[in-house]
Amino acid sequence: MKIAIGNDHAGVDMKREIMEYLKSLGHEVTDLGANTYEKVQYPIYAEKVAHPVANGEYDCGILICGTGAGICIAANKVRGIRAAACSTPTTARLIKEHNNANILCFGARVLGIEVAKDIVRAYLEAKFKGGRHQDRIDLVSRLEEKGSCL
Ligand code: RB5
Repeated sequence: MKIAIGNDHAGVDMKREIMEYLKSLGHEVTDLGANTYEKVQYPIYAEKVAHPVANGEYDCGILICGTGAGICIAANKVRGIRAAACSTPTTARLIKEHNNANILCFGARVLGIEVAKDIVRAYLEAKFKGGRHQDRIDLVSRLEEKGSCL
């Protein structure tokens, strides 16, 4: 898969380890920053990943901040993005199977690297199940486009 990855200052070390892991699994991964321990603003890196994922330039994205929360909230402001923050491999599988999430987020300050790798693998190996889940995603898209799905 073609994967875009981004992070804030809290996620630099974990991002580098996850990139090596992705390459070892045979994926093509593009680093869209940040690569500094100086404080940066996570919405900037959320946007750097979210726009090309939404445009189809990558199969999916991975975003890492301290908790996974802020960078996930920011990514979800980009039309077409379904980002979810995960702390277990089970949730990572289900955000693909049920929500067809196109960006996986997690937190470098709340997870160990081995759990993070398991989360990444569970997400990448999972397949969207469609059916009733697609109906719900269609409602999410209507909420995004029209401001309401009622
Ligand atoms: C940065 O200090 C921290 O707030 C950020 O990495 C993230 O945890 C926000 O949700």
